[in-house]
Amino acid sequence: MTEAILLVGGKGTRLRPLTVHTPKPMVPAAGVPFLTHQLARARAAGVDHVVLATSYLAEVFEPYFGDGAELGLHLEYVTEVDPLGTGGALRNVADRLHSGPDEPVLIFNGDILTGLDIGALIDAHGSSGADVSLHLTRVEDPRAFGLVPTDSTGRVTAFLEKPQTPEEIVTDQVNAGAYVFRRSVLDTIPAGRPVSVERETFPGLLADGAHLQGMVDSTYWLDLGTPQAFVRGSADLVLGRAPSPAVPGTCGECLVLPTAEVAVDAKLTGGTVIGAGAVIGEGTRICGSTVLDGAVVEPGAVITDSMIGRGARVGARTVLDGAVVGDGAHVGPDNELRGGVRVWCGARVEAAAIRFSSDE
Ligand code: GTP
Repeated sequence: MTEAILLVGGKGTRLRPLTVHTPKPMVPAAGVPFLTHQLARARAAGVDHVVLATSYLAEVFEPYFGDGAELGLHLEYVTEVDPLGTGGALRNVADRLHSGPDEPVLIFNGDILTGLDIGALIDAHGSSGADVSLHLTRVEDPRAFGLVPTDSTGRVTAFLEKPQTPEEIVTDQVNAGAYVFRRSVLDTIPAGRPVSVERETFPGLLADGAHLQGMVDSTYWLDLGTPQAFVRGSADLVLGRAPSPAVPGTCGECLVLPTAEVAVDAKLTGGTVIGAGAVIGEGTRICGSTVLDGAVVEPGAVITDSMIGRGARVGARTVLDGAVVGDGAHVGPDNELRGGVRVWCGARVEAAAIRFSSDE
């Protein structure tokens, strides 16, 4: 059995306002907190002990997941009072691991949705004898990521964070946020101060001659750091494009949780999720979107690729496309909100206040 550390302490600033009251790993995707999918996938890959490195809104994790027995896991929680960064967080929880110095420890960022073959990453780590193995994925536009070029044997040759100029973009392989560390390597990270694993630990190990091995796996991969990506990931889970044993229902065009009320002529498509107690009015069309618990969508609203927060309200005939409506916010009837707009938690948008088109 293998142990894992999950990094779940980030502030999730890019996902605001969804992360104002909820840490990113606890924002629901396909009807359950996103972290549930990662934990279930880790369990399916043979992981039995998981340490959660928490910081921002740390208090919400344990009441929900408890000791992990329901997922067949032994879960532990370690909270940083002041965030220690991705590397500092790993060092901070290392004393909770039971693995011997040469045994592999899995590490996951808490915001990655992927079909990665976790067992294959552990096996590749064992057969290459690396100190650290990294899951790499290929992306079309690498500018927002950390580039990880490798040689012909897969050995990492450099770490280039967020390259901007064409000369800096030497590869399309990026750090996909899942690693296997030789346990003793975790113990070399400095204790008691913030450390970034991407900016400090990996480049430092490379400079010291450590063996870092990349494994390119190009199955489903999505960084759920932004609202658009989060909504896409949730929809892909519902549609069955992204694999997870934790989707609460059968995969298809939509997932309606028990106690939601949906009008018979409402059209729910493209991996839409309707949360518990939500009310969806007559003639609404909702595609590729997530409506969280207790939210209300009034008749005739048309919602595409959007996220509606807990207890929020979307007025009649309002059009939302690529929008986020924060928890408890009210968007009045006959509005038109598009293209990345974020309505903050508890905000009020009056009837017919905002349009993108010139028609009435
Ligand atoms: P942004 O603020 O939107 O960039 O999101 P984030 O705070 O989640 O940062 P980022 O996406 O870079 O973090 C990658 C992973 O590391 C996420 O799973 C975070 O929860 C986690 N993480 C980031 N910083 C810390 C930290 O200081 N402590 C712990 N325990 N986890 C962290």
